[in-house]
Amino acid sequence: MSTITLISGSTMGSAEYVAEHMAEILDNLGFSTEILHGPSLDDLPLNGLWLVVTSTHGAGDLPENLQPLADEIAQQKPDLNLVTFGAVGIGSSEYDTFCGAIRSLEQLLEDHQAKRIGDRLEIDILQHEIPEDPAEKWVKEWAKLL
Ligand SMILES: Cc1cc2nc3c(=O)[nH]c(=O)nc-3n(C[C@H](O)[C@H](O)[C@H](O)COP(=O)(O)O)c2cc1C
Repeated sequence: MSTITLISGSTMGSAEYVAEHMAEILDNLGFSTEILHGPSLDDLPLNGLWLVVTSTHGAGDLPENLQPLADEIAQQKPDLNLVTFGAVGIGSSEYDTFCGAIRSLEQLLEDHQAKRIGDRLEIDILQHEIPEDPAEKWVKEWAKLL
């Protein structure tokens, strides 16, 4: 089966834990996975299946470890036509910019012709004390689309 590259953006680790949990589930389903925390564009397969998991910080901003990737994409304008991706955000609905990071990153990927598979998951930490729980449910459904 295909290799799935999990890309995480995180400040305090929540999104990383969620990415690791989803990778474990995908491994158990027979996929091979690699997890990259805050990768640069050079680290990523440009004909691959990505699962992007990011929290939101500042006022709707990407975490510091993922902003450089977004900057590289915006500057280098790679053709991501052969990339398909899933999108998972973690945020808090107390902010007007709830899950702003995954929304803007998804837009950036689509602007460069990447295609999203499945619906975006937005995990609200005010509703889910354990963000891995909704992530687990979502990724099992997402895997069926692959
Ligand atoms: C300073 C600060 C700013 C934040 N800004 C936002 C925001 O704009 N939108 C949002 O949905 N969540 C926001 N959050 C909530 C975080 O996304 C949430 O706590 C998340 O679980 C952090 O995950 P991480 O440890 O992977 O970075 C903010 C949190 C902090 C501490």
